[in-house]
Amino acid sequence: MNKILVTGGLGYIGSHVVVQLLEKECQVVILDDLSNSHESVLDGIYAITDKRVQLEKIDIKDKSSLIDFFDQHQGFDGVIHFAAKKSVGESVVHPLMYYQDNILGLLNLLELCLAHKISNFIFSSSCTVYGEPDCLPISETESIKPAASAYGATKQMGEQILYDFSKAYPLRTISLRYFNPVGAHPSGLIGELPLNIPQNLVPFVTQTAAGVLKELVVFGDDYNTPDGSCIRDYIHVQDLAEAHIAALEYLKDSNQSYEVFNIGTGKGTSVLELINTFVEVTGVPLSYRIGERRDGDLEALYADPQKATKKLGWKSKLDIQQALVDAWNWEQRYRKLK
Ligand code: NAD
Ligand code: WQD
Repeated sequence: MNKILVTGGLGYIGSHVVVQLLEKECQVVILDDLSNSHESVLDGIYAITDKRVQLEKIDIKDKSSLIDFFDQHQGFDGVIHFAAKKSVGESVVHPLMYYQDNILGLLNLLELCLAHKISNFIFSSSCTVYGEPDCLPISETESIKPAASAYGATKQMGEQILYDFSKAYPLRTISLRYFNPVGAHPSGLIGELPLNIPQNLVPFVTQTAAGVLKELVVFGDDYNTPDGSCIRDYIHVQDLAEAHIAALEYLKDSNQSYEVFNIGTGKGTSVLELINTFVEVTGVPLSYRIGERRDGDLEALYADPQKATKKLGWKSKLDIQQALVDAWNWEQRYRKLK
């Protein structure tokens, strides 16, 4: 596939995928409203690839701008759709915003994909669709429980919409259910850049280590896990990006209209293990304290990624050590600490 539209391509995961697409000689157009990213990400992409990418500043909720965009840009072989709001906590407070961006935006985009005969679509889904799993590791056959947040609901609904569209229209879709993306490009030129207070553990760790935040709080050490802290499946963003390239390749020859894949390492890491690993691999001391449990946190979640290995030929290669080295390298470069 040569020409790919990447919505949300300036964001954390999108920017890493854009780099890999450019390295595969794809022609890429980014569509992003900059609501959770900086235009300077383009400089990072250029510094890594020596290629300039076209950016169109458009909000996917704005249908008339989308219509103009698709009139101007023809011939996409596929769309990778990252553009969405992604904070679980914020979605509980502002569900309207989440349904507008994540559902209305998706519907607008799909309508235009159909109108322009774009038949390959990759959707950023999330392990959050599973809710509390019945068994571990979580495979794609795990039942989907009622969503615990509006964000989770938008990912479940997004998948349902794509399933129905792919059955009815000439659209082939893959939903990738990401587990916990972490790390950064090894160059340190692009990475996760929370605009406000971070939502996720690793930016909390690196910003605490950099002195931007005062301390790290571990949300509970009384879970039924070996060290009492929660367990997650942390997947390096470079591996995650590769899964998108593999999914695009797979779509080329696929006769399936809709498929879902878990994208994780299959390995669980506890919060305390992650903190200790960070100190070990970076040599940087990290002050933390044990706090209360966070509402809505589940004890342990990790993927069974075998379906992606068998069908997409994809497997994670990088470990949590490498992810933390790369996240710290990115944080230091961004803060001009080195
Ligand atoms: P991000 O916020 O860094 O990137 C999203 C990008 O989309 C940003 O550049 C933002 O400006 C843009 N955007 C948001 N709303 C838009 C709109 N209405 N119109 C146009 N552009 C818009 O997020 P990310 O971590 O890169 O996540 C990408 C996707 O992966 C999202 O769909 C997210 O729900 C999903 N996901 C993320 C995680 C995670 O932990 N990061 C886990 C599972 C799934
Ligand atoms: C990881 C672990 C916390 C911060 C979220 C979304 C999920 C998906 C991935 C989008 C948990 C603990 C965290 C801190 C801590 N995103 N923690 N102190 O909650 O597993 O998943 O991101 O689809 O939908 O819910 O990720 O990084 O917030 O937390 O102890 O300051 O770190 O309790 O166990 P989470 P997270």
